[in-house]
Amino acid sequence: MGTKICSLICVLWFISFVLLAKAADDKGLGASFIFGDSLVDAGNNNYLPTLSKANIRPNGIDFKASGGNPTGRYTNGRTIGDIVGQELGQPNFAVPFLAPNSTGKAILYGVNYASGGGGILNATGRIFVNRLGMDVQIEYFNITRKQIDKLLGPSKAKDYISKKSIFSITVGANDFLNNYLLPVLSIGARISQSPDSFVDDMIKHLRGQLTRLYQLDARKFVVGNVGPIGCIPYQKTINQLKQDQCVELPNKLAVQYNGRLKDLLAELTDNLPGSTFLYANVYDLVMELITNYDKYGFSTASRACCGNGGQFAGIVPCGPTSSMCSDRSAHVFWDPYHPSEAANVLLAKKLLDGDTRYISPMNLRQLKDI
Ligand SMILES: *[C@@H]1O[C@H](CO)[C@@H](O)[C@H](O)[C@H]1NC(C)=O
Ligand SMILES: *[C@@H]1O[C@H](CO)[C@@H](O)[C@H](O)[C@H]1NC(C)=O
Ligand SMILES: *[C@@H]1O[C@H](CO)[C@@H](O)[C@H](O)[C@H]1NC(C)=O
Repeated sequence: MGTKICSLICVLWFISFVLLAKAADDKGLGASFIFGDSLVDAGNNNYLPTLSKANIRPNGIDFKASGGNPTGRYTNGRTIGDIVGQELGQPNFAVPFLAPNSTGKAILYGVNYASGGGGILNATGRIFVNRLGMDVQIEYFNITRKQIDKLLGPSKAKDYISKKSIFSITVGANDFLNNYLLPVLSIGARISQSPDSFVDDMIKHLRGQLTRLYQLDARKFVVGNVGPIGCIPYQKTINQLKQDQCVELPNKLAVQYNGRLKDLLAELTDNLPGSTFLYANVYDLVMELITNYDKYGFSTASRACCGNGGQFAGIVPCGPTSSMCSDRSAHVFWDPYHPSEAANVLLAKKLLDGDTRYISPMNLRQLKDI
């Protein structure tokens, strides 16, 4: 008798536990779909014949899920996309679209389309021979979209994409660094195109790209602006700057584009019914880390942890023959171009919970719950 009551109670307890767990799951983020460049690439370039690769040591040395082996991420640990997904309650990192395991139910947690060297414009990143630009990344999402229809049925799928999924877009830096500002390939373009007209082109293309995602049922967006690309160790090294100086032109271009991006996102939120576009102010966030690095526990914001050449180890990309710093979490920059995991953690926290100086008109945790 005693055991019978217990088993009944235990069954009831178990059922309520399962229901609670399911309710908790329902409150969590469904999927994150990640678009962009090397700042958020989680391994797509491993599957491309390209000169832009990060699946070489010591990249990934602090990435626990791979035991410190390189994964194709352009940093020592997690990217901002990884950290945001974890914080919003996702059990798995979004799988790279080109990886063999981006099939079946795994895609319900999200897919990562980002590619080192990729940009808004198709011509961006040509120097790397191969990379996925935004147009191609969105074509790939169109494939995923149909797979989700098959997995959930069209009506549930539409709900899942529009209500329980966040679309993050981190792109634009390469359009300057590996297109407009590139001495060899863009001399023609730079002579024939003013910064105004180039930024115009970027905004026009991005408007089309975000609208296409909306047509595929995306509703919750977060779009990062371009960071202070004149302050990365690469730019500081080749321009032989002092520790606390940044190169003016790249930063000026970024600021110009960022102003237009903010307007574009407000325009899209107004014009596309049911949509919310967040503006992630990566520029001011990274500038704050660079300016007040000691306040955040860093010992340097100018020298790359992994790299070689010049006063900031900023010329040769990170690889097996590079020198590597001993205190990786004390460097804002992991390599000549990309932030360290320690910097990514701080940046992600501000995007998740920060105020409108850094993420507007609301933060990511609020976006998840609308
Ligand atoms: C997919 O494969 C990648 C690398 O091959 C691995 O890091 C990741 O954990 C796998 N993800 C899932 C959800 O199976
Ligand atoms: C960019 O390339 C994609 C795929 O190759 C193509 O569909 C698209 O039309 C191109 N966009 C422009 C503006 O040329
Ligand atoms: C998605 O793909 C289909 C073809 O399978 C095409 O008709 C449609 O225009 C595409 N949608 C977008 C928004 O690119």
